[in-house]
This record gives sequence, C-alpha cells and structure tokens, in this order.
Amino acid sequence: MLKASLPLNTELLQSLREVDGTAHMHFELLNEYGIVASCYVEGWERPGGCLMRLHVMPTQRRKGYGTELIKAVIRATYAEAKSALSLSVKPDNMWALRMYHRLGFVVYYQLEGKNGDYLMTLDMTGKLPPVVVEMQKILQQAIAGGGVGKEVARG
Ligand SMILES: CC(C)(COP(=O)(O)OP(=O)(O)OC[C@H]1O[C@@H](n2cnc3c(N)ncnc32)[C@H](O)[C@@H]1OP(=O)(O)O)[C@@H](O)C(=O)NCCC(=O)NCCS
Repeated sequence: MLKASLPLNTELLQSLREVDGTAHMHFELLNEYGIVASCYVEGWERPGGCLMRLHVMPTQRRKGYGTELIKAVIRATYAEAKSALSLSVKPDNMWALRMYHRLGFVVYYQLEGKNGDYLMTLDMTGKLPPVVVEMQKILQQAIAGGGVGKEVARG
C-alpha cells in the first residue's frame, strides 16, 4: 500500500486489489474524519484505465476533496505511462461533469437513449482525434451558456 501526503491536510492511500482476474487500483483520501473521498481505476494492467465509483462523503463536499483525489489519480495514471483515463457520467450529474471538464476530461460519446451516460476521457498522449476536440467545444459552449453545470448554492 502506498501512502502520500496531499494538500487539504489529507493523506492518499493507494492499493491494488485483484477482482475476477482484473487489477483495481483503489485510491482513498483521508483526513481527520476518516476516508473523505474514494474511487478506483479498473483495469490497472491495461494501457488505459477506467475511473469508477468516485465518491466524496456528503458532509465534506465542495471543499476540493473530489478534485484533489482525481488529480492524484491522474498523476498515478500518468506515471504508469497509460494512454488515457476514461469514465462515464450521467448527463444530469452537473457537479461531476463540471469537475471532470475542468480537470481536462472531454466527452467523446453519449450512450443511446434520452438519459444516456456521457463517456469522457483524459488523453495522456497529446493526440486527441479532431472529433473529440469538436465535442469539447460544444460542451464548453453549453457550459458557458448555463446549459451544463449551472452554479447552485454551496451546501
Ligand atoms: C461529484 C463529487 C465527487 C464532487 O466532489 P467534491 O469534493 O464536492 O468536488 P470539489 O469540491 O472538488 O468541487 C469540484 C467542482 O465540482 C463542481 N461542484 C461540486 N459541488 C457543486 C455544487 N454544489 N454546485 C455546483 N458545482 C459543484 C464545481 O465545478 C466545483 O468546482 P468549484 O468549487 O470551483 O465551482 C461529489 O459531489 C460526490 O461524491 N457526488 C456523489 C457521487 C457522484 O456523483 N460521483 C461521480 C460519479 S461520475
């Protein structure tokens, strides 16, 4: 298990767990309340990882823990020379969508159906295909127009 100190008086715990023949790299952010944020990257053995189950303790939201955790995951993923970090997010999850967008994730696909998940990716090779760059522009315009991630009162 790896341990590292991070800003916001937190510590990062990182541990590799094997589930059904696949390696899951778990990331947990600890502060004086215990585990405040967690997630894992599925397929740690693969060239690209998939970010899963990001969760910040409800009483500790909007304090930067989610952002801090994802940044740590990005650093760890990059250090492993992976090509990309991908994830899926519900289109109505504006908070998560905004956070991922600010961290550089781009939407590259929307699953079928009215409430189809957005698939997002953070390219680590610097070779984003033009179609993804185009979709990013569309998302940026939607955010600028208040269509996505509209600010709500801090809880
Ligand atoms: C989404 C989640 C992980 C964000 O974690 P967090 O620690 O609250 O996020 P941060 O404090 O780092 O905030 C990052 C950004 O998220 C967005 N955000 C978070 N809470 C928000 C709110 N109440 N209103 C508007 N934007 C919000 C903002 O863009 C914020 O940046 P800003 O403060 O500069 O405006 C957390 O709300 C959560 O656990 N939600 C439930 C589980 C979930 O939806 N997971 C994601 C699955 S894809």
